Amino acid sequence: MPAAITGCGASLPAGVLTNHDLEAVLETSDRWIVERTGIRERRIADDGESSASLGVAAGRAALADAGIGSGDVDLLVVATATPEQPLPHTGAFVGDGLGLGCGSFDLAAGCAGFVYALVVGAALIEAGNLAHVLVIGTETLSRIVDPDDRATRVLFGDAAGAAVLTASEGPAGILAWDLGCDGSGTGLLGVPAGGSRRPASAETVASRQHFMRMSGREVFRRAVTVMVESAGATLARAGATAETVDWFVPHQANARIIEAARQRLGIPADRTVMNIERFGNTSAASIPLALAEAAGDGRLTAGDRVLLAGFGAGMAWASALLEWGPR
Ligand code: UT7
Repeated sequence: MPAAITGCGASLPAGVLTNHDLEAVLETSDRWIVERTGIRERRIADDGESSASLGVAAGRAALADAGIGSGDVDLLVVATATPEQPLPHTGAFVGDGLGLGCGSFDLAAGCAGFVYALVVGAALIEAGNLAHVLVIGTETLSRIVDPDDRATRVLFGDAAGAAVLTASEGPAGILAWDLGCDGSGTGLLGVPAGGSRRPASAETVASRQHFMRMSGREVFRRAVTVMVESAGATLARAGATAETVDWFVPHQANARIIEAARQRLGIPADRTVMNIERFGNTSAASIPLALAEAAGDGRLTAGDRVLLAGFGAGMAWASALLEWGPR
């Protein structure tokens, strides 16, 4: 039985950090940020907000959109690179906030995490005994960004997005997907300390190893290649071509990456969902946030073919072709 998205939701912190705000505290400029990334502002969680609280709000919105209650959810999968805390998993906090009684787990695949989670949720529905899986991508990247690092601080923001996957009798669902990871790129983007390899110590804190480090130029170069290759593999598996894609919803990493990838794939700009200007790069939250916006304003309609593509730390990537269902 195929799994279709029957509800979407998103949650954004109220706090807005503009490029002009950043000009006041970093050696950067609105012009540089807009030209190099396409970003004008991003949302930043306040002290009372966290990955779990944003995830709960997005999950609640997606359940309402799907017209189901918390008792109807059979499984929760939370994709995040900024978990609530190292243990227990973020899904436990989110499930508690939503009043869920079902199983939950976190899925860590960097910015590709949401598409990975969607594929896993759909596969479990297709395996037979689940009716609804709630998939959430939630991030508070502002908590791991080095406030003194202009290359990353301008890029990342906080947000959550969610989708309800439902067993569907119709043709709507996930038509094909591609998952991959090139672990030779683990050093290109990550948080060096705080795990088993380099546990937290006074020294790791003093040397700022709990903040994100990124080789931006190399990540950029690899990103365009893997997005195009993975999306191409997914289209081939579905027996589809770029001309048959109604909407391309890429990970919102950098407007230039999206532009290069969509051009190489041959997808028109007006069929590509972009909101990076307002929210920056929100990692695992960016694709469900873009889906919720495009579904909410009526761009996505029943029968549309929607191509998702994400990539990031790992370097992990994921793409999927969906047929948008009636909602
Ligand atoms: O979410 C998935 C993973 N992440 C990504 O996809 C991010 C991929 N990478 C990028 O988006 C881009 O590489 C960045 C936006 C991070 C940087 O843009 P770039 O065009 O690749 O710049 P660059 O790193 O090659 O740096 C060019 C110059 C450097 O100065 P010098 O060495 O030429 O003097 C940087 O120090 O720009 C400088 N620079 C800045 N200048 C003003 C870097 N960040 C800034 C800044 N403001 N915020």
